[in-house]
Amino acid sequence: MSTLKNKFVEKAVPAAADFKKLLKEYGSTEIGKVTIESVLDGMKGIPALLCLTSKLDSQEGIRFRGYSIPELQDKLPKLSPTDEPLPEGLFYLMLLGDLPTDADVKEIGEEWKKRAIVPKHVYDVIDALPLDSAPMADFTAAILALATGSEFLKAYSAGVNKKDYWDSTYEDCMNLIAQLPVIAAYIYRKHYFNGSQIAADPSLDWSANLAHMMGYDDAEIQKLFRLYLTIHADHEGGNVSAHATHLVASALSNPYYAYGAGMLGLAGPLHGYANQEVIAWVNDMIGEIGTSTPSKQQIHDFCEKTIAAGRVIPGYGHAVLRKTDPRFEAQREFAGKYCQNDSFIQIINDLYEIVPPILGGLGKVKNPWPNVDAYSGSLLMHYGITQAPFYTVLFGVSRALGVLASILWDRALGMQIERPSSFTMEWFKEKAGI
Ligand SMILES: CC(C)(COP(=O)(O)OP(=O)(O)OC[C@H]1O[C@@H](n2cnc3c(N)ncnc32)[C@H](O)[C@@H]1OP(=O)(O)O)[C@@H](O)C(=O)NCCC(=O)NCCS
Repeated sequence: MSTLKNKFVEKAVPAAADFKKLLKEYGSTEIGKVTIESVLDGMKGIPALLCLTSKLDSQEGIRFRGYSIPELQDKLPKLSPTDEPLPEGLFYLMLLGDLPTDADVKEIGEEWKKRAIVPKHVYDVIDALPLDSAPMADFTAAILALATGSEFLKAYSAGVNKKDYWDSTYEDCMNLIAQLPVIAAYIYRKHYFNGSQIAADPSLDWSANLAHMMGYDDAEIQKLFRLYLTIHADHEGGNVSAHATHLVASALSNPYYAYGAGMLGLAGPLHGYANQEVIAWVNDMIGEIGTSTPSKQQIHDFCEKTIAAGRVIPGYGHAVLRKTDPRFEAQREFAGKYCQNDSFIQIINDLYEIVPPILGGLGKVKNPWPNVDAYSGSLLMHYGITQAPFYTVLFGVSRALGVLASILWDRALGMQIERPSSFTMEWFKEKAGI
């Protein structure tokens, strides 16, 4: 058994006992209030899920096992002091709750390299889809095709004891994380480089290897990928991709199906698709105004026009956050360090000044501040990765780290099938006294 797997079992056994005790002895303790609004307005704020890997605070933003993004940048292992953290280390932290050493991170990286094997039929599935199929559709089709190798499916069919579900789930999660950069890069090259593929470079870390297979070997891009794949990894349990993964896994679907479901949620415009929509929207602005260096007044007018047309400003607002997303801040800092004199990034920076007062002035937007998607595409554009429809795939590769660590915990704790109750409109009206 690998060191990581061993450490996970050591943590999981007492945690499962705590979980059972909490459920059995304190199950009837009330922990929150459910109102008509909290149900009819997207279940926001209802304490409905257990998530060990991260917690989102509305004012402060995300903390991964208690660590903020600047703290991760300081404390997680890096390839050099001026580099960004390695996502391998974040996965270790999310899974075990402890900060990894350099050796821990190296071991995970080596293990993922060994597991990065994609069967031929998965490439055939991707190739069978036409070029006008969205990269996210190719990505999810490939994920489902990978499920033929599911160790959990095999173990379940062979009648494994439910206490051991976590074991084959662990194998699937680790295999899937290792396979994702390979299929993501394959989809990228298929769509944008006539299918000319680039082989993996086993000397590179998980992030740099993804950039390499996509065709980018610049040291700054590698840094950007390490940052990108770290900050998108998790956003507690209630966001659509995490919740969908957890929900589908709760039916004992294998990790490929569960994560595939999460990715279909990530593909929506109110979630991960927003990172590509920001680029399309700014390009529309540039096209309509007729210059790549619009004035602040011109940007302001375009924003007003978007709102007047009954559309949202992509990259702004959040269901939980009530201030600027620290993932936006981390990317802005990166741009300040490495991406000077970029007119597209200048527009993104100008929007940060212009959009919040406009949204605030509408009187209905709960959070007028930017989220992660407002910045991410512009950084990729800066380095020549201009194919916006692919951006959500990159988000998805990163999100695997959090949601798969989470379903591994779901299995280890022996979580039950998720099955909330639903009621009719008459029932709600009756409760309201109407
Ligand atoms: C993220 C988002 C879906 C959160 O939704 P939410 O929790 O329902 O947001 P709110 O409660 O603040 O919404 C209240 C109103 O403000 C509007 N609003 C919220 N964000 C807005 C934005 N960026 N631009 C314009 N209007 C916005 C909503 O559409 C809603 O309008 P309605 O009452 O006419 O339907 C929403 O802010 C949004 O659509 N943002 C743009 C897409 C995006 O960036 N998604 C990525 C999120 S990480």
